[in-house]
Amino acid sequence: MPTFRPNIEAMQPYVPGEQPPAGAKVIKLNTNENPYPPSPNVAAAIQAELANGGDRLRLYPDPKATALRQAAAEVYGFPVEQVLHGNGSDELLAMLFRAFVGEGQTIAYPYPTYVLYETLAHAQAARALVFDFDRDFNLPRELFGCGARLVLVASPNSPSGTVYSSRQLRELAASLGDGVLVVDEAYAEFADSNSLALARELGNVIVLRTFSKSHSLAGMRLGLLFASARVVEGLGKVKDSYNLDRLSIVAGAAALRDVAWTAQNTRRVRGTRERLSRALAELKLDVVPSQSNFIFARMKDPPTAAGAYRFLKDRGILIRYFPARLLDDGLRISVGTDAETDALLAALKEYLARG
Ligand SMILES: Cc1ncc(COP(=O)(O)O)c(C=O)c1O
Repeated sequence: MPTFRPNIEAMQPYVPGEQPPAGAKVIKLNTNENPYPPSPNVAAAIQAELANGGDRLRLYPDPKATALRQAAAEVYGFPVEQVLHGNGSDELLAMLFRAFVGEGQTIAYPYPTYVLYETLAHAQAARALVFDFDRDFNLPRELFGCGARLVLVASPNSPSGTVYSSRQLRELAASLGDGVLVVDEAYAEFADSNSLALARELGNVIVLRTFSKSHSLAGMRLGLLFASARVVEGLGKVKDSYNLDRLSIVAGAAALRDVAWTAQNTRRVRGTRERLSRALAELKLDVVPSQSNFIFARMKDPPTAAGAYRFLKDRGILIRYFPARLLDDGLRISVGTDAETDALLAALKEYLARG
């Protein structure tokens, strides 16, 4: 019988949020997708790429994804050689682990955060220093000067929605010596501030972005990395040559360039987030102030968060419940359309009224 490396045998697989089959009648508020469609320019760009019966698909895509990186460079004001493309930011995270972390080497991140960091650490047989957030999700002081090769901070963090200031992250990066700070900004477009400028300024800061949330393209699998030209060049050694297909490259470029579309949808999501936040507080849930497109809210006992999750699921409303330490008293709810949010609140009220 074949055996895997011991760390692979021992690890648990990453479990993504539930993805119901296409056409299922559910209100899906469990994986922080955008409730609004992508820019119409995206479908037009894909159709153009498929011209002549898809003849262009015979040829490999551009390994450098130049059209996409050029659009990113222009939209974010970054030199193009400091931008790298990924098959979702998940692939960029995997590249970072492969390139920077060998067996037994140390990484660090706060807890609770994006679970994939733990999975990638196990896959790499890395040693993970994990420091608990306090109840308000302030950045743990233990991260500063922790000596890890790679420190990961999601900002806004998931599942809390909390943002960490550039001042704090600059201080963290400075405390790491040769260590690298990865700021995972998957949800940055929903926040009041971001730390993209740090990646331009500091050689040991890497910023990640995704198209899955603010650009409504979770189904395309597109991410971007911003770092020094040296880091981008080095990561190229571990990147699959053709990690983005032809359709993703043109779709991503079109989405990026439609800045007004993204801004409008982001504004709508932020507006609904504030309404949802107030309504959850009125229902006596303990709401963590969010700068993202989801809200983490703790429930007073009884009734329990697990019960609320099941009650909503039975009514066709999917939210995220984490049966884990520091999280099992709460619910993470993605911000949907106004109608979806109304349905969620009505069902939650019904659950709470049962006592
Ligand atoms: C903090 C964080 N980083 C990265 C990702 C993954 O993004 P992508 O869809 O680009 O792989 C997610 C997805 O939920 C996330 O929450």
